[in-house]
Amino acid sequence: MEFKFTQENLDKIEQETKKYPVRKPAVMAALYIAQEQNGFISNEVIREVASVLGISAEEVLGVVTFYTMYQQKQMGKYHIQVCTNVSCMLRGGYEIWNQVKDKFGIDHMEVTGDNKFSLEEVECMGSCGTAPMIAINEDFYENLSKEKVEEILTSLGSAN
Ligand code: FES
Repeated sequence: MEFKFTQENLDKIEQETKKYPVRKPAVMAALYIAQEQNGFISNEVIREVASVLGISAEEVLGVVTFYTMYQQKQMGKYHIQVCTNVSCMLRGGYEIWNQVKDKFGIDHMEVTGDNKFSLEEVECMGSCGTAPMIAINEDFYENLSKEKVEEILTSLGSAN
C-alpha cells in the first residue's frame, strides 16, 4: 500500500534535518515519525523516507533492521517488550517472559487475534539497575514481580 507523509509530518522531518549539515542523520527521526503515522515500517515507508531525505532505500533499511524500536509488521495496540538480557534474566526476566507468553498465547513477534497485544523479547533497554523490566509501547515498568506484571497486564484488559 502506498505511503506518503502527511504535510504536518513532512514539516517535522524538515525541522529534524535542520539539526544536521546533511539530511541523512534525520533518518531515525523520520522513521519514528513514519511508524507513528503508519503503525509499522513497510517497504513503501522505507521508499518514502529515502525519497524525502534523498538517500537510498538500502541505507534506510539498514537503520530499520539495526534498531529494535522499528517494527516491520503491524504489532498490537499494546506492544509488550520483555527484556531477558543479563540483569533482567538474573532477576526473573524469563519468568516474566513466560508469564506474558502464557497469558496471551503468543510468542516472539506475534500478535493476539484481536490485534490488542503483541510480544517481543528484547535485549537490554538500559534499565538494568531496576531490573527486571518490560516496556509497553513507550512506557517502562521496572522492579517487577510476577504479581506486578499480572496487575499491569490486567489493567490493559484481556485478549479475546
Ligand atoms: S538487562 Fe534488562 S534493561 Fe538492561
